[in-house]
Amino acid sequence: MLSKTVLTAASLLASQVSAVLMHNGVAATPQMGWDNWNAFGCDVSEDLLLGTANRMVELGLRDAGYYYIVLDDCWSTGRYPNGTLMPDFTKFPNGMAHVAGQIHALGLGFGMYSDAGRYTCGQYAGSLGYEQLDANTFAEWGVDYLKYDNCYNEGQSGTANISYARYDRMSQALNATGRQILYSMCNWGQDHPWDWAYSIANSWRATGDIYDSFDRPDVRCPCSEEQGFDCAFPGFHCSVMNIINKVVWFIHRSQPGGWNDLDMLEIGNGGQTDDEYKIHMTMWAALKSPLIMGTDIRSLDANAYSIYTNPAILALSQDPAGASAQRRWRYYVPSTDMYGGGEIQLWAGNLAQGDYVVILLNAANEALMLNATLADVFLDQGGAISTQAKSNWDVFDLWASRMPNATADAILTANSTVAALNGTSYLYNATAQSYAEGIANNDTLLMGTRVGTWQAGAQSTWSAMVPRHGVMAYRLRPQGAPTVSKRDEL
Ligand code: GAL
Repeated sequence: MLSKTVLTAASLLASQVSAVLMHNGVAATPQMGWDNWNAFGCDVSEDLLLGTANRMVELGLRDAGYYYIVLDDCWSTGRYPNGTLMPDFTKFPNGMAHVAGQIHALGLGFGMYSDAGRYTCGQYAGSLGYEQLDANTFAEWGVDYLKYDNCYNEGQSGTANISYARYDRMSQALNATGRQILYSMCNWGQDHPWDWAYSIANSWRATGDIYDSFDRPDVRCPCSEEQGFDCAFPGFHCSVMNIINKVVWFIHRSQPGGWNDLDMLEIGNGGQTDDEYKIHMTMWAALKSPLIMGTDIRSLDANAYSIYTNPAILALSQDPAGASAQRRWRYYVPSTDMYGGGEIQLWAGNLAQGDYVVILLNAANEALMLNATLADVFLDQGGAISTQAKSNWDVFDLWASRMPNATADAILTANSTVAALNGTSYLYNATAQSYAEGIANNDTLLMGTRVGTWQAGAQSTWSAMVPRHGVMAYRLRPQGAPTVSKRDEL
């Protein structure tokens, strides 16, 4: 009883602190949505956005929490004589306010893109020097989210102060409009935004651009993983493992209202196996990156659909504690044949309700039996001597209740979750009950499937066979009184 009271007081305090820290009251949990860039590049139009928005409603993606429809680069044709940004009317014949209105009518938010430079990366008009005018235009159009890029910044980067000043101008301009607009900075990790952007932005890109590969090295993403926190040339064509290994050093700097952005999701774009996409989704959720789908929603396949909608994984992302998982260890395993070998990692972190997430990641080229001890998992709480290691834990597998392909296909064909689900439940409806409420109510969809007990004892071990380029992810819940823990230091 006593520890329950303590826990409640602790979480209350945590939520009050978060509210104070959040500069504009948005993104208490990492934002979710869709952006056209990964799948469509500059090929944008009203039809694409509205077609996608409609489909997101039909498929239950909006209700799963994917709220923002974000229009990326290449939407304008410059400025009117009075300086106001002008949409490209061949792509958006009815203008942007119309698009925003249609998206709002579907119960979704509308995001747009600009650049803290003279031009955008696609060489359209940028907002440098036009911050207030452009913020006012976005607010007038009904924009709820601004992705703000870093190309053509006229040399205004190189120190944290210079970058801060440039990005702060748009932050202040957005706030001055009086409209609540999520501010998503995209300066690719330059000048360490995790040190300064939490007071002016809701998220900041932490690395160069992602591409749809699990671990292929590419010279266009030149910084080594160890240079993650000091990368002068972030580049593009960064693989999923490259990004994970770069952000490890500062991932704990995410907090409610200000998140490290690991870039948009590639699931569904065809460059990775199903197991690799499960790693991508699991890690982006557990590391508290924004979850922005980057594929064509109108032609989603069953595998991608059931990954994007897995409630037990989304519950990691939207957990009210807002604490990123941390890497506990990383080892290299030798190959058993000429194609084997590679790296394995253990990640763990605390969640609301005294729960923990544990992730066994096998990036090696063959299936491996991975083992973790409670001392490994509870390293931050004192490892071998921690209270947590003295407790027995219920273990829930977060992928075991994944929607079967037959169900996913039925939904995708019927265009309706209600008709196709037929009494079964694989989708979480966050419109009806928020993730925070669902987690507090131990909603079974959010918990995953109970697969056993992890016995107390610092050296007590959990073992699992993890596929090649695969992942096992678990929620741990203490048996008996909840344990109180503090999130990692910022
Ligand atoms: C890049 C950005 C991408 C995309 C692109 C558009 O700088 O990182 O996410 O927005 O510009 O040109």
